[in-house]
Amino acid sequence: MTPERRDDLLRDAQGILRGNDHGGYTVPTHGLYPYQWNWDAGFSALGWITFDEPRAWTEYRRLLEGQWIGGPQDGFLPSIVFHEPCDTYFPGPEEWRTPKTAPSTTSISQPPVHATMLRWMWQRARDKPRAEAALREILPAIARHHRWWMRTRDPQASGLVTVIHPWETGRDNSPAWDAALERVPRTTRAYARRDLDHVASGERPTPAFYDRVVWLMDYNRACAFDPGLIVRECPFRVVDCAIVFILHRATQDLLALADELAIPIERPPLEDHLARTEAAAPRLWSRSLGQYVDFDLVGGAPIERPTSGGFLSWYAGIRTPTDQLGTLAAWLDETPFALPSTRSSDAAFEPKRYWRGPIWQHMNLLIENGLRKAHHDDLADRIEASSRELFEAGGFHEYHDPISGAGLGGRAFSWTAAVWLWRQAGGGSVG
Ligand code: GLC
Repeated sequence: MTPERRDDLLRDAQGILRGNDHGGYTVPTHGLYPYQWNWDAGFSALGWITFDEPRAWTEYRRLLEGQWIGGPQDGFLPSIVFHEPCDTYFPGPEEWRTPKTAPSTTSISQPPVHATMLRWMWQRARDKPRAEAALREILPAIARHHRWWMRTRDPQASGLVTVIHPWETGRDNSPAWDAALERVPRTTRAYARRDLDHVASGERPTPAFYDRVVWLMDYNRACAFDPGLIVRECPFRVVDCAIVFILHRATQDLLALADELAIPIERPPLEDHLARTEAAAPRLWSRSLGQYVDFDLVGGAPIERPTSGGFLSWYAGIRTPTDQLGTLAAWLDETPFALPSTRSSDAAFEPKRYWRGPIWQHMNLLIENGLRKAHHDDLADRIEASSRELFEAGGFHEYHDPISGAGLGGRAFSWTAAVWLWRQAGGGSVG
């Protein structure tokens, strides 16, 4: 890349974050996603820390305004914080109708990447006093969030947390959820999707999918958001291996960061959960696919669908059978661009439809980080090279087609721009 091209991209990427800044929180993209999303905020903050450190810490303060405090959901961090009203998105706060107000939120969570993001931000921050002051404020709230996952989503202390809505996985319409979603009734009530006002329907989830996610949203409210009842009886209950791995890594980073800064947090529940996850991880191994997979708790069986979430085991530091290296290498040989979210040889693969095939740059970053930690640099290099090639084509799209490399979905997308800024600042090799 020429220095001029690099400067253009730098200007574009920073401009996207500035343009998507709504006064301290970053919307993923205007129109399609007009509020603050949970795991997006973590990646946005990584981008901000490369050029505006105070703003990066503010992203977290604003996200934590959405945290539920007290009661059975204490520590819960929602998938969306509805800071300001907006009529371009469905389902907004008037659909979720949770007890939390000012700001109102959804009642489901998202992948808990935060302690890892915060540790990376700490490592890169130049203004250490400011960073330390921010972390003293933020880290105890993140610890509370980890305790929420462990207490409400793993009441039997299995080491494998449960998710109760496909949107909670952040990999919304992954084919991994297809069979489990079949058990969920399709809503019969009227509702109006807004996503198709912004993006072509061939790149978005289907009507059947939407009918079921709306039913599950309504189900949460019908259960009065009682976490015990929902985790026992929800017709959609899966172990998402990506969430298990992300939580596992984040818990280690939380403990390390709290240690380094002498921030008091309650360690034993976190340490116990780490040990239980390590012991339980083999339940998520698919011998036939040669990789980690998700698990259907209602059906009581592993979900034999090859999705990229399994490749986060190295990021988690979870013992990974060497077969998975060969599996990943085969995936990489099968498509011109890396890394598809669903294996291209799988019957469910669709190169343009959201989580059924497209490449997501933030997933590439995490998977690559894990490969480097585990000293599999050859595979990490392949993912990194492909990521850079897609970035350099410009546009900072929401996701990319692994066959043609075309940018798809929302434009001027915050986490894509942020991940580029982070890589560009040398962050890809941190931690
Ligand atoms: C979609 C993605 C989810 C993301 C959100 C905002 O719902 O599947 O992972 O957090 O958009 O970007």
